[in-house]
Amino acid sequence: MKVNGTHYRSLWWDDAKGAVQIIEQRLLPHEFRVHQLDTLDDYAFAIVEMQVRGAPLIGATAAYGMALAMAQDATDANMDRTWDFLHATRPTAINLRWALDRARDLLRPLPVGDRAAAALQLAHDIADEDVEINRRIGEHGLRIIRDIAARKPAGEPVHLLTHCNAGWLATVDWGTATSPMYQAHDAGIPLHVWVDETRPRNQGALTAWELGSHGVPHTYVVDNAGGHLMQHGQVDMVITGTDRTTRAGDVCNKIGTYLKALAAQDNGVPFYVALPSPTIDWRVSDGVAEIPIEERTGREITHVQGAGADGGLEVVQVTPEGTPGGNPAFDVTPRRLVTGLITERGVCDASPEALAALFPDLAAAV
Ligand code: MRU
Repeated sequence: MKVNGTHYRSLWWDDAKGAVQIIEQRLLPHEFRVHQLDTLDDYAFAIVEMQVRGAPLIGATAAYGMALAMAQDATDANMDRTWDFLHATRPTAINLRWALDRARDLLRPLPVGDRAAAALQLAHDIADEDVEINRRIGEHGLRIIRDIAARKPAGEPVHLLTHCNAGWLATVDWGTATSPMYQAHDAGIPLHVWVDETRPRNQGALTAWELGSHGVPHTYVVDNAGGHLMQHGQVDMVITGTDRTTRAGDVCNKIGTYLKALAAQDNGVPFYVALPSPTIDWRVSDGVAEIPIEERTGREITHVQGAGADGGLEVVQVTPEGTPGGNPAFDVTPRRLVTGLITERGVCDASPEALAALFPDLAAAV
């Protein structure tokens, strides 16, 4: 998507520099800075510290990390070491494992001398495929938004609510939950998006930055506002992303998503999840029992970061000295609360049967 008139992806390969460039997301929305990844440690740091974040982008970044490792030493031993090293960066988003497995499955049978080029090409393919998947999710989501708009008085905006950033910054381009928003806006459907702040990392500020750059009307709200807005008829549809969806349709996403789904059900508001197929974990069924939830440092809760008066980033403490912060980063929304999954192949129920019917090839491959 565009930043100040220039089209960017969230990461890209620079041929002249022979290295991957990322957008340093920890500085957004205050500063737009491009950052180069040179070493495998740079890749791990970028994922752990959330210079890059969002399930699909984490997967694409890991694929390029494997390519870098293969360019240095393409032996089986280094491939396995790199798999372990990158896989240990963040535990919840399944796209990380999906990309690393895909790389290892492709590379292992190849002669060692062919692996570096094949790994780099695979990373390019994963990035390009992600863009196309998200574009298609947008087309399918657009149809739902169009239907809602058709039932409203002419000219009245469709009010969406989203949580976290499932935008182009969280993918390679388009975003998952935001792709239908961009496509609906571009199609001339009046929209307004309630953007959850998404404490503690405030990914909502990234979503607000994205939507603002694209001209989509939006309002930034605290995480606890959603239920109230739904009770007062101010939300027509909730749409979120996901970090891992089970083969049965349980959805793991940023902490607080579950509470939005509960409020949506209580108020008869449709709750949709934008789901690219690499985010389906076909090996697990029960999201609550089986998905590992990342526990991040309590300091992300006890301290907040923002731009100071001079525009520089400042960190301030909001709790009394010594109060510990508890920081589970994701939660699981059981499939019974999900109205539908918007995938690149169409919209389906959050059920094992519907997912298997839409992705028979992937379901059978496990
Ligand atoms: O901790 P983050 O910022 O990596 O979490 C991101 C999310 O929870 C997104 O909603 C999810 O990855 C879907 S991104 C298309």
